[in-house]
Amino acid sequence: MSLPDLLIRPRRLRRSATVRRMVRETTLSVDDLIYPIFVDETIDAEVPVASMPGVSRIPLSQVGAVAQEVAALGIPGLILFGIPAEKDAVGSGGWDDKGIVQEAIRAAKAAAPSLCVIADTCFCEYTDHGHCGVLHGEEVDNDETLLNLQKEALSYARAGVDMVAPSGMMDGMIAAIRDALDEGGFADLPIMSYAVKYASGYFGPFRDAADSAPNFGDRASYQMDPANRREALKEAWLDVEEGADMLMVKPALAYMDIIREIKDATQLPLAVYNVSGEYAMVKAAAEKGWIDERRVVMETMLGFKRAGADLILTYHALDVARWLQEID
Ligand code: PBG
Ligand code: ZN
Repeated sequence: MSLPDLLIRPRRLRRSATVRRMVRETTLSVDDLIYPIFVDETIDAEVPVASMPGVSRIPLSQVGAVAQEVAALGIPGLILFGIPAEKDAVGSGGWDDKGIVQEAIRAAKAAAPSLCVIADTCFCEYTDHGHCGVLHGEEVDNDETLLNLQKEALSYARAGVDMVAPSGMMDGMIAAIRDALDEGGFADLPIMSYAVKYASGYFGPFRDAADSAPNFGDRASYQMDPANRREALKEAWLDVEEGADMLMVKPALAYMDIIREIKDATQLPLAVYNVSGEYAMVKAAAEKGWIDERRVVMETMLGFKRAGADLILTYHALDVARWLQEID
């Protein structure tokens, strides 16, 4: 037996770390990161989220310090979720100018003016039933919820938010919010749309953290069916046409094909949300010593970039920023 002459040997370019660096196709930078935080109006000291090791709900008094920590690490963006003291049927806390998210926006901007402060714009944290809008019977009323989303986005804008991120998957939410912002004198405020959000089991730990689990049924009548790909393109295009400035795909890991597809089909910056369940799985396996957390997290982040993400919302952001500093 003799071997064939091998003209092409890909291993030639893998032999040294330097050459591997030269042919590397994808990079991860601290500029790609957005850090989510939970601000709880009902607490005075931070409360760890059991299913998300390393993540806590924080009181308003700590928002400034966290914003400074995020900015000091070079992370450009922070996304706020609020847990209000009072909930009601429509989620009116969402458009209270003195509400928890509004106060958190002010605190974050005062402490770290250059940080891009984003507010998740939805109602599930504000409603006593945990659904993402106004209920009629057991149905979320789309158009009534749009009217409330307009009020909520305007209230966040008045508080000084840098970007609103509607996440409720209501039809027309981008057009409605764009219209309200423009009329309210906030034509320059960008919208990051949770354009493609699937009805996912991976949101479980978040709903503990944000106290936003629906108290009956599920979100399948407004969030997308995990089986659907064409519909993701439709949702993305609708939001492009309604004036979204950025798009998001969520969750991330089980939807890498969708990330690539939306990236190729649209021209907008694309964010992906590395959600709570994805985070919890990595943390759990790392705690057991079954995986190397740093290696797995960095590989996952790179995977999002390779799939087409421009921005990554992740609870690992602080660690990733530190690890990136150590590599350089
Ligand atoms: C609110 C919202 C959710 C998440 C972000 N915004 C929860 C949901 O839709 O139930 C999930 C984030 C995560 O799991 O990390 N609509
Ligand atoms: Zn919601």
